Amino acid sequence: MKNKLITLLAVFVFAFSFVALVGCTTEAEVTGMPPLAPADHNDGRFDQGAVMCYSCHGNGPNGNPNDAEARMLPEDHYVDASYDSKEIFPARAQCNTCHLLTPSE
Ligand code: HEC
Ligand code: HEC
Repeated sequence: MKNKLITLLAVFVFAFSFVALVGCTTEAEVTGMPPLAPADHNDGRFDQGAVMCYSCHGNGPNGNPNDAEARMLPEDHYVDASYDSKEIFPARAQCNTCHLLTPSE
């Protein structure tokens, strides 16, 4: 009987640690790390604000992204979480609070 109890407890602890582990993984995926902007962005782009960033990375007249070589903005950066809004969600407007420049060598 005592043995059974110990086994049960061990199984419970094991199962619980697994749940904790899965919890961590999910959180990391949701939070994410903003990628650094490449060092070549240190040419005044950061002084001109989101409109400048948007002209290459945003959904514009030339397509999405407007500059074919730039990385597309994630859809969660847009109002209504939709590319079609063509407007940056206010909390994402200060690009450089999250996307720092890659330090130049
Ligand atoms: C003249 C066009 C242009 C402008 C303006 C521009 N970018 Fe970029 N950006 C690029 C290109 C091209 C790349 C390189 C493509 C790549 O490797 O992702 C890039 C890459 C990036 C990356 C890396 C993406 C990744 O997943 O590694 C970030 C972050 C970024 N830019 C942020 C910004 C921010 C913030 C601004 C405004 C301050 C900005 N960019 C303005 C063209 C531009
Ligand atoms: C509140 C923080 C925050 C702000 C502000 C923000 N971003 Fe991001 N950005 C992130 C995070 C986190 C990621 C990576 C995870 C994701 O996909 O959302 C990301 C991803 C990106 C990527 C890479 C997409 C890819 O596929 O690699 C680009 C480009 C980018 N952001 C540009 C911008 C620009 C331009 C602005 C300003 C208009 C901006 N971001 C504002 C947090 C932010």
